[in-house]
Amino acid sequence: MNLDQMLKIDLNRIEKEIIKIIKNDPDLPKNSDVRKSLTDMVRSGGKRLRPIMVIVGSRFGKEADENKVIQLASLLEFVHVASLIHDDIIDQSDTRRSQPALHVKTGVPTAVHIGNYMMARIVELMTVYYKDRDQILNDLSTLVTTQLCLGEYQQLNNRFNYDMTIDTYLLKTSNKTALLMATCLQQGARLAKAERLVIEQLYDFGHNLGMAFQIRDDVLDFTQSAEVLGKPSGSDLINGQATLPVLYAMEDEALAGRIRSLNVNTPIAAFEEVIEEIKTSDGIDRANALSRQYMDTAWSQIDMLKSFPAARDLEQIWYYFEERIK
Ligand code: FPP
Ligand code: MG
Repeated sequence: MNLDQMLKIDLNRIEKEIIKIIKNDPDLPKNSDVRKSLTDMVRSGGKRLRPIMVIVGSRFGKEADENKVIQLASLLEFVHVASLIHDDIIDQSDTRRSQPALHVKTGVPTAVHIGNYMMARIVELMTVYYKDRDQILNDLSTLVTTQLCLGEYQQLNNRFNYDMTIDTYLLKTSNKTALLMATCLQQGARLAKAERLVIEQLYDFGHNLGMAFQIRDDVLDFTQSAEVLGKPSGSDLINGQATLPVLYAMEDEALAGRIRSLNVNTPIAAFEEVIEEIKTSDGIDRANALSRQYMDTAWSQIDMLKSFPAARDLEQIWYYFEERIK
């Protein structure tokens, strides 16, 4: 059974709501490329973890208006989808969900434009939907307009920077991934008028899961096969990203020297040799161990919410992440 089925969440409603946003957009002509590209992207699926988190968050509140929860869940999934358009351009990644990435189909300038348009439209919709809910509006627009971009910028700004500290890595990981997950649970709960402490606990739980998830994603970039990844193993390093396994591996001085010699002009074969060494270094195990610590903390946070029946839903989400993280 999928996570959505276990949690009794109908993901079709999310997809329909997002398609509705696109269809009802008065500025998108019916047969325009933008409209078609956006619809295709939304329909191409994805795990829909973020909307699931919004819905589960709302189950901790006193009064959840189901339609409003679906609307919020859809907006936040839209944010995620829009960010991936830019991410694939920045990462020079040609596939997404086993399909050609948007920029491959439309060319980079059009895809950049579509990503910008979507983000601008989402922020506009938020100001309409939540005009009477200052706190929600403030949290959402800050996150969407600032934190995601900041995370991606921190990543970009540190390309081929092998002196990046682990703290900087964790900060950009928080900005680009964990904050959005935390915000989904937080805002779902806030919309349903949950208590302040509960909202904070859900936020922390989501943040810890998000950190574990991204660290593990960075490990998988080394350990999974090219077939599973849909890109060469070690692509992050080839793109200049010193992710956590690399930062840990650099504590071995001899290996650090070889990693430092890699730059934008290095032939792929030389990258491949170093990638093999990183795979067998303790950097992989140490990064996995940190991911586990975040998971353990998240588990202990469920205990604090045990008086709510929806704590069981958090457990299901936790187990879903655990399967990925094992
Ligand atoms: C995936 O990371 C990317 C993100 C989690 C966020 C990217 C955010 C932006 C590009 C900012 C977008 C902002 C605007 C205004 C459009 P990854 O590359 O590690 O994961 P992947 O393997 O799924 O590509
Ligand atoms: Mg990427």
